[in-house]
Amino acid sequence: MAKLALHGGPKVLPRGVAVEWPVFGASEEDAVLKVLRSGNWWRGGTIEAQANSACGRFERSFAKWHDAARGLCVPNGTIALELALRAVGVQPGDEVIVPALSFVVSASAVLPLGAVPVFADADPRTYQPNPAAIEAAISPRTRAIVVVHFGGYPADLDLIVDLAAKHQLPLIEDCAHAQGTQWRGRGVGSYGDAGTFSFQQSKAFTSGEGGIVITRSEEVWYRAYRFHNLGRLESSGFYDFYEPSSNYRLTDLQGALLEAQFARYRKQLRSKQANQRYLSRALRRLGGLEPLPDDARITRRGHYYYLLKYQPEQFAGVHREVFLRACQAEGLGLGHSYGTAINRYPLFQTMKWPARYQGAQYRKVGCPQAERIFAHELCALPHTALLADKATLDGVVEVIAKVKENAAQLREKVQ
Ligand SMILES: Cc1ncc(COP(=O)(O)O)c(C=O)c1O
Repeated sequence: MAKLALHGGPKVLPRGVAVEWPVFGASEEDAVLKVLRSGNWWRGGTIEAQANSACGRFERSFAKWHDAARGLCVPNGTIALELALRAVGVQPGDEVIVPALSFVVSASAVLPLGAVPVFADADPRTYQPNPAAIEAAISPRTRAIVVVHFGGYPADLDLIVDLAAKHQLPLIEDCAHAQGTQWRGRGVGSYGDAGTFSFQQSKAFTSGEGGIVITRSEEVWYRAYRFHNLGRLESSGFYDFYEPSSNYRLTDLQGALLEAQFARYRKQLRSKQANQRYLSRALRRLGGLEPLPDDARITRRGHYYYLLKYQPEQFAGVHREVFLRACQAEGLGLGHSYGTAINRYPLFQTMKWPARYQGAQYRKVGCPQAERIFAHELCALPHTALLADKATLDGVVEVIAKVKENAAQLREKVQ
């Protein structure tokens, strides 16, 4: 039995798993230089200039790829979500249902609007927002629902779209992790009233910072446009302002980078999907680290995280944190993503809303599944690992097998 690296043995993956990030080359350099040399570094003032800018072109091609009618580039995924909430009409004092198992922004983007986040627990089978928990959280003050496609795996859009329609509530999809994910052959982000994406440095493709709002609704797009451009109407003069808002425009240098990265990503996505399937098959054979369920309705799967469920009974009862430490010592950068359900952050635990907001008494109303999953079960491999070669992917499985073989010893040494 090979000695664990944690106990002084040799590492299975001395060079790690993740490829260097971001991946870029001549196409990104050419695209950025072209805009740089043009001397026009923003998306432009007139409607025509905006449409012909790199941002404008990217908006059209990315929205189409996700089956939406329109896209609007913005400086990041946080602002994208905030704009989408404004565009569907969320007002101060409104409740917005948000996921507990996500990055903080899926919930905190509601706060600048003066609205009240109400958390919905996660489905332990898929780690996505649980439709039943969303429905249970609806009150007469609910004004919108935000769902996330966590890690890039889609939420159950059949049930969620139906329940949003039944309660006549706007639906916003936080797709920061889900570039390219499809549900029943249609891009996520096009099911709700708006979908929002992030292109921050660590995302599946990136312009350092960046984001986009996509929508099938012209009305939602126009409202988002006005909020992002100082309250100008699309057709108004440059010094005509109609609505309170701010400047949320993206630079065209970033637009150019996004166009080039998007082309690269569409090729990468094919190998990432094949590698995910390869890894999932091998891990299912081994047992102990269960991939999220396959589902025929998921016709394409983008990734921010490749998510796995840790089964301690298959590792002699060793806690997930100890298991992760053993894997990391072998060179496998497996983590627990954000580690804490959003409702447990001090930001929310110290927040006080009047008693009538029953769903927003965060110290009393918990989300047991999201809290348990983050604390004990969820394991996440960064999406960049899905670009690794076959030998490295085999090394991932070898690490898990080695830790499993040494599990009893691992437990004894820790206790
Ligand atoms: C689920 C989720 N939503 C929103 C965001 C916010 O995106 P940004 O960092 O571009 O503001 C992130 C960022 O990581 C995220 O993970």
